[in-house]
Amino acid sequence: MFPSRLLAFAAAGLLALFVGHSFAQPKKPPVATDSLPVPPEKEAMKEKRTRAHAVLDALTAGDPDALRRNAEVLSLIADMRVFVSGYKTEEYRYQAKVFKHAADDLVAAAKAKNMDAAALAYADMTRTCVKCHTHFRGVKD
Ligand code: HEC
Repeated sequence: MFPSRLLAFAAAGLLALFVGHSFAQPKKPPVATDSLPVPPEKEAMKEKRTRAHAVLDALTAGDPDALRRNAEVLSLIADMRVFVSGYKTEEYRYQAKVFKHAADDLVAAAKAKNMDAAALAYADMTRTCVKCHTHFRGVKD
């Protein structure tokens, strides 16, 4: 009795090892967002940071094409379900909405090659980054 149980235990262990090995590097989970190849919020936020920095580069370089490309991605991120409904506080939803408006203003300004309007929209947008993060930290703590 005991040895066979031991054997079964060892076999289970081996199986676990084998399974563990074959699944040690699982593929990334399928994209769970609506329209973007960006996984949920954390990655979306990193992408926002990258794109927001690129917008600043485009503004300072006076490059409306780069501005439009990056602003369009920011606007798409603003539409992601995880971003729009991921957090339930009113302040979060409000800042998410303002962020979306600012991103859209940025796209429009880039298309019109109006760099002054773009700079304003960029300022609006970055205010929402800071305000939402401050709010979120308050909620979490
Ligand atoms: C409506 C709210 C909201 C707005 C607007 C917002 N964020 Fe965030 N951000 C969050 C929340 C919530 C987290 C925490 C997510 C987590 O840790 O799961 C976060 C996390 C981050 C992170 C950390 C990601 C990581 O590696 O953990 C970065 C970077 C970031 N945001 C950048 C930005 C930038 C840049 C903007 C503006 C262009 C912005 N965010 C606008 C809510 C917001």
